[in-house]
Amino acid sequence: EGNKLWGGRFVGSTDPIMEKFNASISYDQRMWNADIRGSKAYVKALHKAKLVTQEEMMQIQNGLDQVLGEWSSGTFQIKPGDEDIHTANERRLKELIGEAAGKLHTGRSRNDQVVTDMRLWLRDAIATLKGNTIQLITTMVERAAVEINILFPGYTHMQRAQPIRWSHWILSHTVALSRDVEQLEEIKKRVNVLPLGSGAIAGNPFNIDRELLRNELNFDGISINSMDATGQRDFVAEFLFWGSMCLMHLSKMAEDLILYSTKEFSFITLSDAYSTGSSLMPQKKNADSLELIRSKAGRVFGRCAGFMMVLKGLPSTYNKDLQEDKEAMFDTYDSLHAVLQVATGVMSTLEVNQKAMEAALSPDMLATDLAYYLVRKGMPFREAHSCSGKAVFQAESKGVPLNQLTMEDLHTASPLFGSDVSALWDYTSSVEQYSASGGTARSSVTAQIEQMRAWLKVH
Ligand code: ARG
Repeated sequence: EGNKLWGGRFVGSTDPIMEKFNASISYDQRMWNADIRGSKAYVKALHKAKLVTQEEMMQIQNGLDQVLGEWSSGTFQIKPGDEDIHTANERRLKELIGEAAGKLHTGRSRNDQVVTDMRLWLRDAIATLKGNTIQLITTMVERAAVEINILFPGYTHMQRAQPIRWSHWILSHTVALSRDVEQLEEIKKRVNVLPLGSGAIAGNPFNIDRELLRNELNFDGISINSMDATGQRDFVAEFLFWGSMCLMHLSKMAEDLILYSTKEFSFITLSDAYSTGSSLMPQKKNADSLELIRSKAGRVFGRCAGFMMVLKGLPSTYNKDLQEDKEAMFDTYDSLHAVLQVATGVMSTLEVNQKAMEAALSPDMLATDLAYYLVRKGMPFREAHSCSGKAVFQAESKGVPLNQLTMEDLHTASPLFGSDVSALWDYTSSVEQYSASGGTARSSVTAQIEQMRAWLKVH
């Protein structure tokens, strides 16, 4: 049976459709580097355990370096029968160095090998994604600092709510992204644990020095139980959930920006670099970058839910179902890696139309302030809310803006209204009331920027 790692007990050959169905090489070849790193460390441990001679160790290591060279120069040839990356690398090693290659897998199983590869791969992927997220946050925080003067309508239920600073909106998204970074750091702790030395299920019988392996491969810890180590993919599931959560945040942001970029809103203009046109309608400029960010959320949620479904029915220890972990992990990584960079591009190049933003503010958005005016005159808030509501009703009935009501009109709502109410119709002074931490006043937004900058320094 060719180069099968398990051919010994077989007489019949594998059905060609089954062969293809079973193979993971088309996607797990991405872990070539991790697989070779793991093997190079493992042969050291074999040597220490006196299972390979010094000379055999050198032979295997040089051979593995050659295989590595072929992968990195793009000359590695995948052959029929290369079921997965582990089979392919060992097959090639044997071609290069001969029989000594057969000692490399002593005491090892693809069950501890594959999960070692995955952890090595994901550890690097996490570092890259963390960098991508930090870059996006940095871009947004600095943008918030530059555009702190710009006011625009804030919405709840997508209905006009209160005037806020544009920077306050930007920062709201950076705070969510900072939680994503922190969660990624948490996940990394659980990814960075060495499973190698667990064998297929029972452990390693050759007194393999797992501390040596841990140190060689730079893991923070060593898995406690060989059955758990080979049969669990919690760290993959966590990563998929991380991707889902992060994309949920970015999808929300994208949705806001898509709306803000419509002619009707005209709050922002997306850069040509992140837009596309229509093959039919010459005037169109579509926010495809943002729409794709939004759609990747659905895609990655599906990966997460799909893999959870794979896990839910499994008995303990390794089952081939676990092979499904890789495409979910790679696809989530690829999606996030692309999305975070595109989002950074979008956020660093979009233009803000300050005039349109400020023109979109209207006096009805100060109805809360009108109630607060009465509160400051001593009225209980519940009553003030009702009086302001009456004023809003009057303005709507008369068909005038809230700030155009006469003093007589206002007096029918409450006798506490005086001429100083005119000072209230000012959006800048409105936002300046919200100076408690977290609010939209300049001082408060500045403090948020400082907090985020300090956070960035330590991440
Ligand atoms: N390609 C397999 C995977 O991705 C490697 C482990 C195979 N182990 C086994 N006992 N068949 O999970």
